[in-house]
Amino acid sequence: MKRTRIIVTHYGGPDELRVVEEECPEPKTGEVRLKVLAAGVSLPDLLMREGVHPETPPLPFTPGWDLVGMVDRLGDGITGFKPGQIVAALPITGAYTQFVCLPQRELIPVPSGLDAAEAVSLVLNYITAYQMLHRSAKVRPGQRALIHGAAGGVGSALLQLGRLAGLQMYGTCSSRGAAAVSDLGGIPIDYQHEDFVEEMRRRTSEGVDVVFDGIGGTHMWRSRKALRPGGRVVVYGLTSSLRGGRLVSGRPARRRRFHGLAIFALYIAGGWLLPGRKRMVPYSIQWLKRLKPALFRQDLIALLDLLQQHKIKPLIAQRFPLAEARHAHELLGKGGVTGKIVLMCNGANECAAGCI
Ligand SMILES: NC(=O)c1ccc[n+]([C@@H]2O[C@H](COP(=O)([O-])OP(=O)(O)OC[C@H]3O[C@@H](n4cnc5c(N)ncnc54)[C@H](OP(=O)(O)O)[C@@H]3O)[C@@H](O)[C@H]2O)c1
Repeated sequence: MKRTRIIVTHYGGPDELRVVEEECPEPKTGEVRLKVLAAGVSLPDLLMREGVHPETPPLPFTPGWDLVGMVDRLGDGITGFKPGQIVAALPITGAYTQFVCLPQRELIPVPSGLDAAEAVSLVLNYITAYQMLHRSAKVRPGQRALIHGAAGGVGSALLQLGRLAGLQMYGTCSSRGAAAVSDLGGIPIDYQHEDFVEEMRRRTSEGVDVVFDGIGGTHMWRSRKALRPGGRVVVYGLTSSLRGGRLVSGRPARRRRFHGLAIFALYIAGGWLLPGRKRMVPYSIQWLKRLKPALFRQDLIALLDLLQQHKIKPLIAQRFPLAEARHAHELLGKGGVTGKIVLMCNGANECAAGCI
């Protein structure tokens, strides 16, 4: 049996995403082969393609942090899963494919009746948002939060989950995302035309309780200025290292996994040295999952339950066939995307628009 898979053979722009056809892998002992129904497309995928994300693997590699798939074949020693069952996983790389083999411990059962694209949005974006809200910031009802990039994948998840947590929310976005931010319960602030620090001072006398900053760089220090004394900035991304989907530095792309991380650490340390009782707290989904895998499982199950109860509704910006991964990267890099882009890896209408 053959499978289609996307590979990156050189670090660089969207043109470096190649479509290959090859023999389908067989599951080894302790592994399950999945037919991938939906794979998420996210900014971390673009950062890895450029070689600058800390998790960037050596070449060649298949991108794709998050997936929802159907159990297709069991390796030796597998118990508790059966062919046809729907599962979710966060392999960090390798999801842009029709079939993938993963260790059983990576798989989390997905309830039936969910849309595959909506379910996959939970695996990276909503877990990130949920853990930052409830584990890093430990938010309480009535608190004020500033969410940067609020119309994006993680940002829109923060708004939906923040509303459930009873937060008063402000969200920076470009004018294209303002309506979505309002619909999700946030007060939009146009980051291209307004100064968010001044806006926060004007709208809240002393500042907000928490800022979620996925933009990175000196932006984190400005976020700190929007805090009330005793507040915290949860820092979690490097959106500012890309412009138009390519490296702002303009340097030829190569594997520089620790460059961004070192700068990130420097800015956080700098923030600690500044006067005022304000904290900068880093968050990483992959490190929390490695250190405490049970929390990842517990939080994803809680989010799948919220989705099943219609308490959350991920925004799907666009669904692309797997072979159009390059267009998906171009679209995300261009900006102005509201919600999550998803690759439908075995046909968009596999089960009635991706319903599982
Ligand atoms: N630490 C973790 O565990 C973790 C997990 C997941 C993601 N991340 C990080 O989270 C960040 C967001 O990822 P994503 O997949 O949600 O990306 P996304 O969907 O592309 O969203 C990013 C959003 O940021 C907006 N934006 C860009 N520059 C901005 C600025 N200066 N001020 C305010 N908003 C701005 C964009 O708006 P326009 O396009 O309209 O300009 C876009 O809506 C990335 O840095 C990613 O690496 C970290």
